[in-house]
Amino acid sequence: MQATAHSVEVMFMQSFKRPLVVIQTLFVMASSLWLVACQPSPESNSADEASKVVVYTSRQPHLIEPLFERYTELTGVEVEFTSASEAALIERLVAEGPQTPADVFITVDAGNLWFASERGLFQSIESSVLEETVPPAWRDSENQWFGLSLRARTIVYHPGRVDASELSSYEDLADSKWRGRLCLRTSRKVYNQSLVAMMIEHHGEEETQSIVEGWVANLATDPFSSDTLLIQAIEAGQCDVGIVNTYYLGRLINEDPNYPVALFWANQADTGVHVNISGGGVTRYAPRPDAGKKLIEWLVSEEAQVDLALANLEFPVNSGVPISGVIAGWGEFVADSTPLVIAGQRQAEAVQLLDRAGYR
Ligand SMILES: [Fe+2]
Repeated sequence: MQATAHSVEVMFMQSFKRPLVVIQTLFVMASSLWLVACQPSPESNSADEASKVVVYTSRQPHLIEPLFERYTELTGVEVEFTSASEAALIERLVAEGPQTPADVFITVDAGNLWFASERGLFQSIESSVLEETVPPAWRDSENQWFGLSLRARTIVYHPGRVDASELSSYEDLADSKWRGRLCLRTSRKVYNQSLVAMMIEHHGEEETQSIVEGWVANLATDPFSSDTLLIQAIEAGQCDVGIVNTYYLGRLINEDPNYPVALFWANQADTGVHVNISGGGVTRYAPRPDAGKKLIEWLVSEEAQVDLALANLEFPVNSGVPISGVIAGWGEFVADSTPLVIAGQRQAEAVQLLDRAGYR
């Protein structure tokens, strides 16, 4: 009985105190109005919820704009997008903080996506569509970002000067038989940093460093600023082999079906080809997170994958999408299934190793 009486007393005290609590709350709210005034609150944007979604992307406008137009046709949701370099967009998201208008950030390479998540620029999203469509290796372990298309970074060669039977792996390109015959892109490109980060995961630092030193010793010329220039150097006879993302070769073959550089799927007997992604996620302070999630879900749909992946000669992240044209001609390959988040986690190690190995 005593306990009950006590409870009643407490309840009474609470209900009696409630008006005071409300007043205190109002005071706190009023004192922070200046904050509220300059932050987008979810409620204040609810009118926009169904009508638009804002995207920051480092993808080239001509690749992504037709997709966004199609999304608007299908859903009535307008897609406003800003295109810039990934570094500029990451800095912008950091600077804007809670005031960002961006709901979605889309960029390329798991290294960049990981860096953005380390800066706290994404939020975890729950989506059975994304979890079922995007294999775990190609999304963040906390579902902060998801792969939207796959790009394979593999070996290319001049078939007149190299027989495919001489080729095997990235590691083999350190062999002295390639002395003066290898072309590489600069190590400042995140594509190479991610490749080497995954090699560190497979072989450890020491072995990876000696492989990279072997590459450097085999270089025919200074590293190139682009994969296209590298492929053209093989065509021109400056070197015989190199490592590139396949879509750069695909573009050259689409312009000239007899283009004299061929593709070799690396490491089919062991780790598989290094595959990276373009990807995206919902921003940490998205004013319209649901609209952002719906757009990303649509981007992995079979319809969107045709324009998002195949139009850029990348591979679809959705395994239900058939491939065609030049990329189908390269045949099936085994991809490295090590989670790409490791490319980000080991990025700093990779950059230091590349520097120590003298790869500029
Ligand atoms: Fe690229």
